[in-house]
Amino acid sequence: MKILLVLCHPRRDSLSGNVADAFAKGALEAGHKIDFLDLYGEKFNPVLKVPDEPNDGKLENYSKEVQEGFIRLNNNEAVVMVFPLWWWSMPAMLKGWIDRVWNYGLTYGPCQHNIKKGAMLILPAHTEEDLKKRNYLEAIRTSFDVGIFNYNEINDSELTFLGGTDQGREHCKKHIKTAYDKGLEF
Ligand SMILES: Cc1cc2nc3c(=O)[nH]c(=O)nc-3n(C[C@H](O)[C@H](O)[C@H](O)COP(=O)(O)O)c2cc1C
Repeated sequence: MKILLVLCHPRRDSLSGNVADAFAKGALEAGHKIDFLDLYGEKFNPVLKVPDEPNDGKLENYSKEVQEGFIRLNNNEAVVMVFPLWWWSMPAMLKGWIDRVWNYGLTYGPCQHNIKKGAMLILPAHTEEDLKKRNYLEAIRTSFDVGIFNYNEINDSELTFLGGTDQGREHCKKHIKTAYDKGLEF
């Protein structure tokens, strides 16, 4: 499978960056192809402007950056996003990539795209148990899994929370292993 692997973190050597690398390693070993999109590294501009919302939703009428972003996304059969949890949500950079590239007539509405499978590897400082206590887990699943993947007709989708990122090196090593296994099993 061709996978667009999207990393959203300002530091390439962050835990998120290492998790993305581990996923890529596993996926490559399993025979998948990876197109690695480092949003900060590629200086993606996340701000949606007027040329990003034509009324007809036709690809050729979108801004050049959206056209290129969508063609790149659609050149894959799966998309995997790796990012830290910021304010119980995704970093603005990643949100902006979705705002702009996952647009009307491209990934939803009158269109057919090639993405069949989606996954997110989400890194919160809080543990999954902490997130459950205040219903964040359910809220995030509804917003990301239902609201983004399923809304865009990607029904083979999975969210993985790699929590407790401030619990030291040994704990974080487990996340690297989990990400590698996710790539291998993808
Ligand atoms: C702006 C900002 C907002 C954050 N918000 C949350 C949050 O809502 N919940 C949480 O558990 N951790 C939160 N954190 C902690 C990050 O999730 C944590 O730093 C990250 O998992 C560490 O991984 P990294 O080394 O790849 O950044 C936040 C961190 C930053 C910088």
